[in-house]
Formats: sequence, C-alpha cells, structure tokens
Amino acid sequence: MVRETWATRVGFILAAVGSAVGLGNIWRFPFITGQEGGSAFLLVYLAFIALIGFPALLVEFVVGRRTELNPVGALQELGSGAWRYVGYLFVVTGFIILSYYSVVAGWFLRYTVIGVTDGYTASAASPDAAEALFGSVATGLDSLLFHALFMVLVVAIIAAGIRSGIEVAVKVMVPAIIVLLIGLAAYGFTLDASAEAYAYYLSPDFGVIAENWTSILPAAAGQAFFTLSLGMGVMITYASYLGEDRNLAEDAGIIVGLDTAIAVIVGFVVFPFLFAAGLTPGDGGAGEIFVSLTAAFAEIPAGRVIGTVFFAMVGIAALSSAISILEVLASYLMDEFGVDRVPAAAGLGVAVFVLGVPVTVDLVFLDLLDLFADSILLVLGALLLALFVGWVASDAAREELEIGIGDLGGLGEAWIWVVRIPVVVVVAVSLYLGVVEYAEFLTEDFADWLAAR
Ligand code: TRP
Repeated sequence: MVRETWATRVGFILAAVGSAVGLGNIWRFPFITGQEGGSAFLLVYLAFIALIGFPALLVEFVVGRRTELNPVGALQELGSGAWRYVGYLFVVTGFIILSYYSVVAGWFLRYTVIGVTDGYTASAASPDAAEALFGSVATGLDSLLFHALFMVLVVAIIAAGIRSGIEVAVKVMVPAIIVLLIGLAAYGFTLDASAEAYAYYLSPDFGVIAENWTSILPAAAGQAFFTLSLGMGVMITYASYLGEDRNLAEDAGIIVGLDTAIAVIVGFVVFPFLFAAGLTPGDGGAGEIFVSLTAAFAEIPAGRVIGTVFFAMVGIAALSSAISILEVLASYLMDEFGVDRVPAAAGLGVAVFVLGVPVTVDLVFLDLLDLFADSILLVLGALLLALFVGWVASDAAREELEIGIGDLGGLGEAWIWVVRIPVVVVVAVSLYLGVVEYAEFLTEDFADWLAAR
C-alpha cells in the first residue's frame, strides 16, 4: 500500500489549522483572557505561544515528516528502550478525547437544529429554562443520536482519505469558520453593548497578572499546548503525510498565527452578545456556553439567525478537529496492521461511539474523561515527546528541521535547548498541577457522585 500524501501545501496547513481551532479557541480562550487580565494576559499568552507552543509544534512536525509513520510507528522507529512505547499513549489519549469530544460536538449540532426548528426563546424565560433546555440536549436519547450523527460525519471524511477526505473537507470548513466568525464579529460591533464588551475583554490589567502569576503562567502554557492540538500525535500524523520537504518553521508559523487570530476574534463575537443581553461572563463549565449564549440569542435582535449560525460554526470547528483525532487512530491501524482505510475508519468510529455513550447518560463521565485526558494524558504525552526529541533524538531532529530550510546554524541549537529546558519545565509543572486537580476531582466531586448512587 502506498502511503497517501497531501495534494497541496495549503491542504496541509488548513488541516492543521482545522485541528487546532476548536472548543479551546471558542470557549476557553476568550473567557480566560477576560478574567485573567485582558490584553495583559494576551501578551503573556502570545509569549507562551511563541516560546513554548511554536517549538513544541515543530517537535511533532519533524518526528512525523522524518518517519512518515503514525505516532506508534514513529516512536518505534526513532526510539529505543522504553521510548518505543510512547506512541501507544497517544493512541489511548486519542480514543478517550474523541469519545467525549464527539458528544459535546453533538450538542452544537443539536443547538443548530433547535435554532432552525424553534429558535432560542425558550431560554429567555429564566436561567432555569435555559438550564432545562441544556439538560434535555446534553443527556438522554437526543445526546446519543447527535453523538452518533457526529461520528458518522467524522468517519465519512476519514474513510475518504487524505486528499479527497480531509483535504477537501478542511478547504471548505476552515474558510467557512473564518468567514462566519468575521461576520458574527461585525454583527457584534453593531450592538450597543460592544464598547463595554471590548473593554471587559481587552482592558489591560497587569495587576491581575502580578497577583495571580503562579496560576496564570501554567494556565497560559496549558492553553498554548491544548489549542495547538499538541500532546497526542495529531501533528506527527499530519506531518507524516508531507511528501516533499518544505519549510516546516514557516508552516508552523502560519498555523500558530491563524489559530491565535481566530481565538482572539471569538472574543469579539461572544462578549458583545453576552453584554447586549445584560449578562456577565461567568466561569465557563460544560453547560455555560449553551445556557448563557442561548439566553443572549433570545434577547438580541435577529438572535435566532445569529445563534443558528454561531452554533453551526462551532460544530464545523469541532468537526475539523475531530477528524484529526480519528486520523491518528486510523493511521495506526493502517500502518501497523495493514488494515484498509475504510474498515479502519468505520471500526474505530464504532468503538469511539461506544466509549462515548456513558457521557450521554451522565455528565459526570464528561468530567471524568475530560479532566483525565486533558490535564494528564495530553500533558504527559507532550512531556515525554519533548524529553525524547530534546535529549535523545536531538541530532536527527535538528537535521530534519533543516531539510527544506537550509543550514540553521545556532538557531537549530537554540530550538533544541528551548525544547530541552523551558518546554520540559513548563509541561512538567502543568502535569503536576493537572494531577493535583484530577486527584481533587476524584476525591471530591466524583466521590460525592458515587456516594449519591
Ligand atoms: N486544539 C483543539 C481546540 O483548541 C483541542 C484539541 C486538543 C485537540 N488536543 C487535540 C483537537 C487533539 C484535536 C486533536 O479546541
């Protein structure tokens, strides 16, 4: 079997951007920026993206392009001893993340449909009504059906392959996301509350950062990894389909720039909506985007249309992320076991669907899986890969990066040292914090839930 490659450079870049742009950009990023110091936080975050996220993205890219293999095969080829097994961690992580990601994505599809069939006025009556609507969407038969529908879409794209599946899909989806977002932001600008909303979002508050830097720095670092889809081999897999040798640093720069720009624009969309409806941004949490935004859509002019477009846009962003996860799993089965693409995609889709079913029954399983995958598995994967590439395979990595760029001189060495120390330290601290957080969840919220059974 000849391994497929991207048809165009644009296809590769858009696929990576599609993976990177997802719920992290839409929910987490604007809200942490608003709460953690506005444009002052933005500066800290941009520094982390450039100093930590960008070098770490290059790490995954060189591993993928060098081996032209899925993450399991890639680590087996490059590594020796225990390093040979790190790829399995990525596969396990991908399985878990996709199972709940699909359930949450299904909610966005459901809310899009609600916009078409009923509108969001049901949420306007009271916060309780909005909560009740969310409850009926998030669990039960509706949730199960839309989880299934979303997985069917993901499987269909992956089954069609790199060029006629992923590449065609992202060439439609990523421009669609950008156009819809800019349109929504322009609409937000016309609302009376926009000035107040922008002030909340961007007014620099260095005081917040000075007071809370011990929690803000790791949060900014964690978000930098999460938003670039690092830590589970997505970028290894996508780079493994690069047939020719291009300038990986340039590609990574474009991807990071687009992902960040989109995250920033989202803030210009959600805050005007919330402020226009007299709502103040809350702490986030699984249901909040649905509860507060549907309440806002019930209030603002043309809210039904705007809301439907917004939820559809998020659904598209989730789809372009989800396909990258299934591709990691599928490439593993194809490379290592010679399974054909269509049965690999379909079989994995069914397995992921089944794993996600408990989430549609009780949201405690969402926290259980999400916290574990997000704050432990992804970070652990990123840490092991940074240690491996920085300390064990650094010569091969530097050589690979120079292919397509030319002699990097001291810059190549600088990159390796950034990976060796700052990236490793930042990720190790994040991992520590993630373990503490998960232990708290297990001993508190989850223990309470079990006790109530
Ligand atoms: N980058 C995605 C976002 O911002 C989330 C994400 C993290 C992800 N790791 C991933 C997506 C791996 C796909 C694959 O929402």
